[in-house]
Amino acid sequence: MELRIKRAPRIDMEITVPGDKSISHRAVIIAALSNGVCTLHGFLPSEDCMHTVNAMRALGIQIEQPQPDTLIVHGKKRVLTPPKKEIDCGNSGTTMRLFAGLLAGQTFESRLVGDASLSRRPMDRVIAPLRRMGANILAEGPEEMPPLRIHGGSLRGMHHRLPIASAQVKSALLLAGLFAKGKTTVNEPSPTRNHTEILFNYFLVRTAMDGERSVTVFGDQVPESRDFTIPGDISSAAFWLVAAAAQPRGHLLVREVGLNNTRTALLGVLLRMGAQVREAIEDVDQLEPRGIVEVTGAPLKGTVIQGREVPQLIDELPILAVAGVLASGKTIIRHAQELRVKETDRIAAIEIHGPAPLHGARVASFGDHRIAMAFAIAGLFAEGETIVQDAECIRQSYPGFGTVLDEFTNLKRMQISTPVIGSLTPTPVEEA
Ligand code: S3P
Repeated sequence: MELRIKRAPRIDMEITVPGDKSISHRAVIIAALSNGVCTLHGFLPSEDCMHTVNAMRALGIQIEQPQPDTLIVHGKKRVLTPPKKEIDCGNSGTTMRLFAGLLAGQTFESRLVGDASLSRRPMDRVIAPLRRMGANILAEGPEEMPPLRIHGGSLRGMHHRLPIASAQVKSALLLAGLFAKGKTTVNEPSPTRNHTEILFNYFLVRTAMDGERSVTVFGDQVPESRDFTIPGDISSAAFWLVAAAAQPRGHLLVREVGLNNTRTALLGVLLRMGAQVREAIEDVDQLEPRGIVEVTGAPLKGTVIQGREVPQLIDELPILAVAGVLASGKTIIRHAQELRVKETDRIAAIEIHGPAPLHGARVASFGDHRIAMAFAIAGLFAEGETIVQDAECIRQSYPGFGTVLDEFTNLKRMQISTPVIGSLTPTPVEEA
């Protein structure tokens, strides 16, 4: 499938975005372990998250989907049954890593497989600490890459100090910790998204925080079943936020979006680049903050992104590279080596050569959803038509992206101007 994009007229839009991908994966898993029926609203029905749903079904959990974004998960008090065949994680690194942690503590054997891209992604980062907890995991690929064969069993809680900041690894160890004897502590070099911790708290699983980089979960607990509404994904909103920010006088309001501060570093960067950005948290009742973000565009200027900001906008770096192309002056992104092990080597796929007038072109997505969407946004600023090839990968995280893109290019929309409370002030560049 190809996406065809033309230059956007003046942007003045109000949108919502589909449910948060990271939270959707975790909500399904924790609800499935709970002691009863949980209805999840706002679920992201993307290919990646459906792999998590189907993996849970393969482990004996009944999950109904009355609407694409509503799941009814029948928790079975942590009782999972052996899968009849291998569990297919598709392109989803989150599914494979989270399930590695979950399955390490089960008493049966399972095998996790992925597509060609996932089969080239590193798993040693999760296998090594799980083995220290007593798990029996064999990686069938070279250099500990997938498929993974897991012979679960009794685990002991451990103290882990992670060498790299990774929310997936942290979450895998916390899920394993739920099935381990004693307590499991994970210490990360720099804070990463904390959705597992928040959902544990929401589902009444006892955890303890020690500062912002250390979390402990106590073993042998059953999550309490509850309904939950997943907020919109700020990483999906990021594409439109950058488009509006980079268009002088462009205006965008995003409603019902997740505003967890481990995920909003993008907003600080857009402010530093010269855009006007406002956010208002409207609701924290379900522990994941959510609300609205409003951006008004300006001629952007380059910035430096580095240090602890990087893990907090790791998925936004491809679109921020596009912002860099559209900005005057240099944009420098440091400490982003983790981009080399995403769905593609995103450092090879994205280069910043700005500021430059863009011309429409035919570009490859490299089969990577975030690269495809980043190029589509670049196309909104290019003279002539841009064609993004192999754009079906966008379904991994953002079904419906193409429809919103059409609205951006065919603006016959109402002009909206909504007052917003709570302004942000620019954050300084992080120290390395
Ligand atoms: C995710 C964590 C990040 C991110 C990915 C989703 C998660 O990966 O890039 O899209 O849901 O935990 P790492 O933990 O590998 O940095």
